[in-house]
Amino acid sequence: MTEQATKRTDRDDFRETSDPALDERADRGEAPLLGPRELYLLWERQHWATQDLDFTQDRIDWHERIGEEERFQRMYGLSSFFIGEQRVQSELAPLMRAVPDEDMRIFLSTQIADEARHVAFFDRFYTEVGVLESTSLQARLEETSAHVNPEFTVLFDEMLKGKADRLAVAPDDLECACEFVTIYHMIVEGMLALTGQHFIIDYNEQQGTLPAFVEGFTNVARDEHRHVAFGAWFLRHMARRDDRYREAIQRTLTEVAPVADGVLKPKWMGDAGDDAPTLFGVSVDETRAFAMQALSRRLKVIGLLAT
Ligand SMILES: [Fe+2]
Ligand SMILES: [Fe+2]
Repeated sequence: MTEQATKRTDRDDFRETSDPALDERADRGEAPLLGPRELYLLWERQHWATQDLDFTQDRIDWHERIGEEERFQRMYGLSSFFIGEQRVQSELAPLMRAVPDEDMRIFLSTQIADEARHVAFFDRFYTEVGVLESTSLQARLEETSAHVNPEFTVLFDEMLKGKADRLAVAPDDLECACEFVTIYHMIVEGMLALTGQHFIIDYNEQQGTLPAFVEGFTNVARDEHRHVAFGAWFLRHMARRDDRYREAIQRTLTEVAPVADGVLKPKWMGDAGDDAPTLFGVSVDETRAFAMQALSRRLKVIGLLAT
């Protein structure tokens, strides 16, 4: 990890989320987790506003300091996040109804608001910086979708949406709620989003580019750590309650892992080996190793992986 990244995730407000990935005690399965009520109170203390960000320098960087080929390569990450935030924002409501407790429901209401703010953040970045030609949010999402890869579409529009559709008609299906949280909080947010955020923020900091984007995306990452901390708490709670739920989590991890792995590799890499360094200075193997360490720490704390 670079010095800047360590400084970021060592910040008190990041550590305060209790995401096991940020706590080395999790390697021994010992990290404490906050419950939904404490995470709700933390949410009240961690607000931020997309309208406070000034993208003037980002606009100059994007058009004058970043070359055409690099802009194209950056579009994979940007598009995956913009569309991914929109998908998680629109698919979370069925879980809010399905969870078996009011404190969980209140936390999940805050998460829906967070995901809406993340969509608004990306939309504002795209608009203020002038990334695309389209003139509405819907059209910008469609225009940017050309950059994502097929595994991304399978993960979000088939696997995640399939579980949300099932929960919407069967809110008492707690096994499905566990499957949904495994895909949403452990894989999409924990393994993929936080990994992408880590490397994208790092790269911009090293290059001295897109300062307002870095500031906003750091806030997004802090929110995501809070969401993933809820997911870890929920899955530990359910796995302890019944072996059926424990098995549902394990089964889902096995089913989704190959598709999630495919999302880590942009289309533009073509046949380049997974150990080949990309323009951003890291290889697919390095991003995979980062994602797997975070996932295994969380699984140890949930009690699904031996320490
Ligand atoms: Fe988000
Ligand atoms: Fe999130």
